[in-house]
Amino acid sequence: MPDVFVERSLDEIRFWSRIMKEHSFFLRLGFRSEDTQLINEANQFQAIFEDIERRAYSFSVNTDPQTIREFNVEVHNAAAHIWAFKRKVLGLILQCKLPGQNNFPLLVDHISREANYFRNRLEELNSGRLEPLHDAIIDENVFFLKIMADHAKFIGHLLDPSERKLVEQAREFSHEFDTLMYQAIDLSSMRPQSQTIPLLSQFVDENRVSVKSLRDFKKTARDLIEECRIKSIIHPLLADHVFREAERFLFILDMFERSLSGEKVNKREILF
Ligand SMILES: [Fe+2]
Ligand SMILES: [Fe+2]
Repeated sequence: MPDVFVERSLDEIRFWSRIMKEHSFFLRLGFRSEDTQLINEANQFQAIFEDIERRAYSFSVNTDPQTIREFNVEVHNAAAHIWAFKRKVLGLILQCKLPGQNNFPLLVDHISREANYFRNRLEELNSGRLEPLHDAIIDENVFFLKIMADHAKFIGHLLDPSERKLVEQAREFSHEFDTLMYQAIDLSSMRPQSQTIPLLSQFVDENRVSVKSLRDFKKTARDLIEECRIKSIIHPLLADHVFREAERFLFILDMFERSLSGEKVNKREILF
């Protein structure tokens, strides 16, 4: 009988450690050649998360839960450190101390939010305090819709301006996801009265339709970039990275959808 705690921990760590490793690489690409200290720090984080990723694959669902609990603490620590590094870099950029560096402030803030999310997930797993479903549905959507809206903005700004059609499409996605995010914040503000099964399942369905179409757009962009068919300053790994994050969000939405349909869909009472 596989341990759910072990399974979920490994799933989170395998996904997010690769993401953290790639963030380190993107940060390094954006630094100026004279910022050797920052480049070294980014390289160290890349090595740390590469090692964590490798070890996460060396464990299995049958690994002793205590071993995984300790591993989670170690990874949590690494996530807290990379979060602090990203915030430090954001501070330097916003104080104009790195003129000419190439990472947007919003991108650095964005990747720090992802590190914070990862850190929180590990904390929740280790303390056994997973959010109740009706809260998780709203909070995960508020988080990921903002992530998706940011991605659309990054793509729009990193494509060559002469790719007018694609830039336009990215702008439309940005607007669509900003709107969805505000809807999620509205639903959040109406808690707990808004947490009825019909409202939550409509919310999940609507978001899923939009995430699927953004995911497909990212996939197309990724393939075009890989085949060198469009003009941009998007690294192929960044294109794949944002595609994988959309897939992750879809995976979470599917999970919510299944959990909600396990409840009686006609039930109109509040879920608390
Ligand atoms: Fe990311
Ligand atoms: Fe992201």
